[in-house]
Amino acid sequence: MHILLTGGTGLIGRGLCHLWAGQGHQLTVLSRTPERVAELCGAKVRGIAALAEVSDEPLDAVINLAGEPIADKPWSSERKTLLWSSRIGLTEELVAWLGQRAQKPAVLVSGSAVGWYGDGGERELAEDVPQVTNDFAAQLCNAWEEAAMRAEAQGIRVVLVRTGLVLANKQGFLKRLIPLYKMCMGGNVGSGRQWMPWVHLADEIGAIDFLMHHQSASGPYNVCSPHPVRNREFTYELAHALSRFAVLPVPSIVLRMALGEMSGLLLAGQRCVPQRLLDAGYKFRFTRLDVALADLLSTH
Ligand SMILES: NC(=O)c1ccc[n+]([C@@H]2O[C@H](COP(=O)([O-])OP(=O)(O)OC[C@H]3O[C@@H](n4cnc5c(N)ncnc54)[C@H](OP(=O)(O)O)[C@@H]3O)[C@@H](O)[C@H]2O)c1
Repeated sequence: MHILLTGGTGLIGRGLCHLWAGQGHQLTVLSRTPERVAELCGAKVRGIAALAEVSDEPLDAVINLAGEPIADKPWSSERKTLLWSSRIGLTEELVAWLGQRAQKPAVLVSGSAVGWYGDGGERELAEDVPQVTNDFAAQLCNAWEEAAMRAEAQGIRVVLVRTGLVLANKQGFLKRLIPLYKMCMGGNVGSGRQWMPWVHLADEIGAIDFLMHHQSASGPYNVCSPHPVRNREFTYELAHALSRFAVLPVPSIVLRMALGEMSGLLLAGQRCVPQRLLDAGYKFRFTRLDVALADLLSTH
């Protein structure tokens, strides 16, 4: 297959590239730094700076994951514009470009996040539940999904991956938390009762691969373990896996003062379940947080 990726140099994209390059697929990655693509994604992966470089080559699938990191800096209005344009703007450009092509890929797998639901409180969130609250992250995800869904009018199957918190070895969220926990500076965030839908990187990659190939898959899929945990359980399990105490809670008010609106990412929760993935027959490799953490931390 010839697969085009945006965001292919990121945490999830690199994992997909290594899987698919190993299976002999032809991969093209749209990147702001195409010269680094081979180094980051694999020697045979081609980096391009503009979609026009793909010209008339047949494409089988498009994976759309690009986006300015959402949790790196507080959300000033300039930051919000960048978060928006790097996802919705780029997706609109991608769908318009697909519209001009004579040959269409069979499938577009496009990014989203469990934040689409807003703050779900205690409610169990399968994909048929509507948005619960409409904060900035929820609006961002919704607009991102709507932009991608417009490719359906071109006869392209569109899959939306509502991704939970991706847990990976020495990367992403855990890379930031582990140094703090090693210094016994970990602790509950806010009340600690908010739900955290997590997913092991192996399942994030496995689910995207599954949905790309599964010809009847379309629309939104929660990509998170079937067993979300509360923040306090996450705190306990991570500290336990590192043989440390987690005794420094972060009160909500401190987080709100430090991060402003972005604190909602940590204080709100989603009790998401991957109902449609399970119904479609995807088999998770990691369903329990303690087992996932033991696997990821074994080389720390
Ligand atoms: N990781 C998670 O826990 C998680 C959870 C939920 C949703 N997601 C979403 O899933 C997507 C992939 O996640 P990830 O963790 O793999 O992301 P990541 O590691 O931050 O990589 C995202 C990629 O997007 C591109 N990008 C970044 N800023 C950009 C900008 N301003 N304009 C255009 N492209 C830009 C970059 O590619 P180049 O530098 O090559 O251009 C980068 O490699 C993201 O959009 C993220 O929001 C991730």
